[in-house]
Amino acid sequence: MKTIRTIAVCGAGTMGSGIAQLAAQAGFTTIQFDLNPVALEKSRASITAQLDKQVEKAKITAAEKEQVLSRMQFSSDLADCRADIIIEAILEDKAIKTKLFNDLAAINDPSVIFATNTSSISIDAIAAGMDYPEKLVGMHFFNPAPVMKLVEVIRGHHADPQLVEQVYQLALRLGKAPVVCKDAPGFIVNRVARHYYLEAMEMVEKELVTIEQADALMEAAGFKMGPFRLMDLIGLDINYSVSNIVWEALGRPERLTPSSLQKAKVDQGNLGKKTGEGFYQY
Ligand SMILES: NC(=O)c1ccc[n+]([C@@H]2O[C@H](COP(=O)([O-])OP(=O)(O)OC[C@H]3O[C@@H](n4cnc5c(N)ncnc54)[C@H](O)[C@@H]3O)[C@@H](O)[C@H]2O)c1
Repeated sequence: MKTIRTIAVCGAGTMGSGIAQLAAQAGFTTIQFDLNPVALEKSRASITAQLDKQVEKAKITAAEKEQVLSRMQFSSDLADCRADIIIEAILEDKAIKTKLFNDLAAINDPSVIFATNTSSISIDAIAAGMDYPEKLVGMHFFNPAPVMKLVEVIRGHHADPQLVEQVYQLALRLGKAPVVCKDAPGFIVNRVARHYYLEAMEMVEKELVTIEQADALMEAAGFKMGPFRLMDLIGLDINYSVSNIVWEALGRPERLTPSSLQKAKVDQGNLGKKTGEGFYQY
């Protein structure tokens, strides 16, 4: 089995930033790549702030914080993106993801492992456009990545079983609780959770409940976050695109029709916490 020492994370947004922090804190040399230098700076600042909080709470020492940061490199140059495993967390777009993996294959060692954090795109569909489809494994983290324990490890038809096992073992080394699942629309959690979001938005549209009431009630019923606060955290663009992909992949069932309320927010550019406004203001 290949020894994993270096992890590159493509995408420095909501998920990529969290995954890079997790990797560096677990002791890996970590390269964070994003085309957008502003996103990289935001990620560096956010990771530093998270580590500062851990120092304040005496979870890590100030020296450990510095060690974590010293293991991290932030780059907008694809040529820096060379590692034992590359975890992709960029835009939820099949063609863009496939192209990135092919560009990365050209500059990496043949033993490189590719992992995608896609929420909803079929792993087989991404792999189908790749020069080395057997190298791709789904590695679906949950938001926020440093905190949430579950990782869905998705085994596509093309995947080399040894690489699936390596990704599973890596998730364990990152302190996660991995579950291997098949490449089905929405995998497991995102398929089941669709109704949590869609029913809540439909009820708000029909004025059966307000956004605030829906969140308060679901939280009182034991859910950690109400559906609207959770969608704002995920990003409304990402959540809307997952709804569309799952809906299309299952043959457009009426019960999973994407929400026009959410589409309107996305069209206005109000994408949730990351833009300062979604269903709530931040
Ligand atoms: N947001 C969530 O809660 C969540 C949870 C699990 C999985 N995901 C998945 O993770 C991926 C990223 O989601 P996110 O919420 O972090 O998105 P985001 O919009 O916060 O960040 C995406 C980042 O990717 C960068 N990017 C776009 N194209 C690129 C390219 N070709 N090369 C390098 N960087 C590029 C953008 O500049 C941006 O910084 C998506 O596939 C999404 O489905 C999201």
